[in-house]
Amino acid sequence: MKTVLQLNTSIFSANGQSSQLANEFVAQLEADEVIVRDLANEPVPHLDAERFGAFLSKPESRTEKQKAVLQYSDSLIDELRRADTIVLGLPMYNFGVPSTLKAYFDHIARAGVTFRYTEKGAVGLLTGKKAYVFATRGGYYAGTPADTQTDYVRAFLAFLGITDVEFVYAEGLAIGDAVKTASLAKARNDLRQLVPAYA
Ligand SMILES: Cc1cc2nc3c(=O)[nH]c(=O)nc-3n(C[C@H](O)[C@H](O)[C@H](O)COP(=O)(O)O)c2cc1C
Repeated sequence: MKTVLQLNTSIFSANGQSSQLANEFVAQLEADEVIVRDLANEPVPHLDAERFGAFLSKPESRTEKQKAVLQYSDSLIDELRRADTIVLGLPMYNFGVPSTLKAYFDHIARAGVTFRYTEKGAVGLLTGKKAYVFATRGGYYAGTPADTQTDYVRAFLAFLGITDVEFVYAEGLAIGDAVKTASLAKARNDLRQLVPAYA
C-alpha cells in the first residue's frame, strides 16, 4: 500500500504554481492513497506557550484544552507516519517559507514522538520515507546563499528522520511570461524524471 501525503502551502491553495506542480507529480505516481493537506485552507495555529506546554504536559495532569492540542498535533503526525512519500509544494514568500508551513513544522516536531534525544544528539523517528519538494520562486535563488528554503527544509526533515529529499525548482516566475513558461516546462520535465524511481 503506497500512501502519499501532499502538503500544499501556497496562499492560493490548489491554484498555486507549487501546488500545481505537486499535483502533477502526485497524479503520475499512481499511489494507492493520497492525503492532501492544504495549509492555506486549513491553517495550523501558531505555536504559543500554551500549545507548547501541552506537548510537555504529563498524561495524568492534562487539562481538556491540552488534550485537544495534543490530539490535533497527533493527527498531523499520524498522517505523516502513514505516508511513505511526502510531496511538498513550497513557494517562496518574502525570502522564506510560507508561515503556514512553519506553524505546521512547529506542530510535528515533538520530542519522544517524531524525534528523541540521545547521548549523541537528536535522532529522527520518521525514517524510511522519501520527500519531494516543488519550490517556486519569483526570482532566482537555487544554489546561492540567498536560498533560505532548501537547507532549512532539508535540515528540518532530516531532524525527523526524513533524509531522502528531492527538490525541483521553478524559478524566475515573476520575470516575464516567456521565462515563466520555460521555467515551469523545465520543472515539469524534471518532475517526470523523478517518477520512475517511485516504485
Ligand atoms: C506574498 C508574496 C511574497 C513573495 N515573496 C517572494 C520572494 O521573497 N522572493 C521571490 O523570488 N518570489 C517571491 N514571491 C513570488 C512567488 O514566490 C512566486 O509567485 C511563486 O510562484 C509562488 O508560488 P505559489 O503560486 O505556489 O504560491 C512572492 C509572492 C507572494 C504572493
